[in-house]
Amino acid sequence: MSPPVTTQPPAALAAGFREAFDLCVSKTRRNLPDLAKSGRTWAFAADGDYPAWKEGFFEIGNWTTSFFTGMGVLAWLDTADEEFLRDLALSEPNYVAKMEGGNAVETMHDLGFLYSLYSVALYKATGEARHRTLGLCAAEVLAARFIPEGNYIRAWGRMDEPESDYAGLAIIDCMMNLPLLYWASEETGDPRFKDIAVRHSNTTLTHFIRADDSVYHAYRFDREGKPAEGDNYCGNFVESQWARGTAWAMYGFAMGYRHTGDERYLDAALRVSRKFVSLLDREVVPIWDFRLSPAESQIRDSSAAAVAACAVQELESLGKSEPVLTRAKEELLARLLSPDYLEVDPACRGVLKHGQIGDGVGKARIAYTSWGDYYFMEALGRELGIPVTWW
Ligand code: GLY
Repeated sequence: MSPPVTTQPPAALAAGFREAFDLCVSKTRRNLPDLAKSGRTWAFAADGDYPAWKEGFFEIGNWTTSFFTGMGVLAWLDTADEEFLRDLALSEPNYVAKMEGGNAVETMHDLGFLYSLYSVALYKATGEARHRTLGLCAAEVLAARFIPEGNYIRAWGRMDEPESDYAGLAIIDCMMNLPLLYWASEETGDPRFKDIAVRHSNTTLTHFIRADDSVYHAYRFDREGKPAEGDNYCGNFVESQWARGTAWAMYGFAMGYRHTGDERYLDAALRVSRKFVSLLDREVVPIWDFRLSPAESQIRDSSAAAVAACAVQELESLGKSEPVLTRAKEELLARLLSPDYLEVDPACRGVLKHGQIGDGVGKARIAYTSWGDYYFMEALGRELGIPVTWW
């Protein structure tokens, strides 16, 4: 990687982490109760006005609500202000109802994001048994998406819709949903959940990571579960390299190594991380797809930068990072702290400017993203010593 545009001495960086974390806390103080009272979910917004997003909490596409609740748990861990727990409790009836009857049928693999960052995080933070019960219920629903013939978790679509285009589809993002399954096995002693996580990880290892350490966004299996071909819904094209998907793989495999001790997962996390870092340019924050044609709008993705920083922190916490990765993490975080990316206006609900969102296959737009905000806050929290225990 070439030298970054700006460098900051570590002391200034540390002060920046504190200031930015406090900014996240104050935005969360406003966002969390408003989100809960809206009864919907918020995802992203071009102008940072998250409430303009009109998706219902119970809609199948909801994968983002818990980025706000995760920020609430981080804020509570830092401040011990009970207001955050009260605001988190406002959403509890919705999370409970989502796991009941027809609502549970109308779900997809991102139950991992949703319930790790709500039920598991709250259970770990408070020790209250009802959060454990709900988290385990979500793990059961997620486990029911496993296709044993193909050894993968189906990403999207209702499981009672076998004719859907989404039947036979797994995506790289799913690596981030596996911690819910590892946790369920650790809690219950039932190896079934972990076994599914391991089998899905092995499939991802075999089919998603290319020989040059780049990553497919998606992979398709036939009706018998036999591997068919790479596919794409989020990157620029099938053989491209979506930056955020690469970051999901970095973090997902690093966590897989923590949960299993399998050296192949560590090797994958390191290979994909080295590849990610080697592709960064002087701007540091990556273009949303590393193989985007120069003729296309070179939109950057601050959320991929934030997820990648967390992935390197995970490797550091395992004693497995490398100097080139740790240096890149510092440069990514320093860049995200700059006015180009950090939204300091308290009137704006979003934290990170310049996230990338998909706008149809191969296209991209710029927005504030709930996931970029969450992973940025997690990365800051980790630098400040806040324990992140829910993955
Ligand atoms: N998991 C969907 C995305 O990263 O956009």
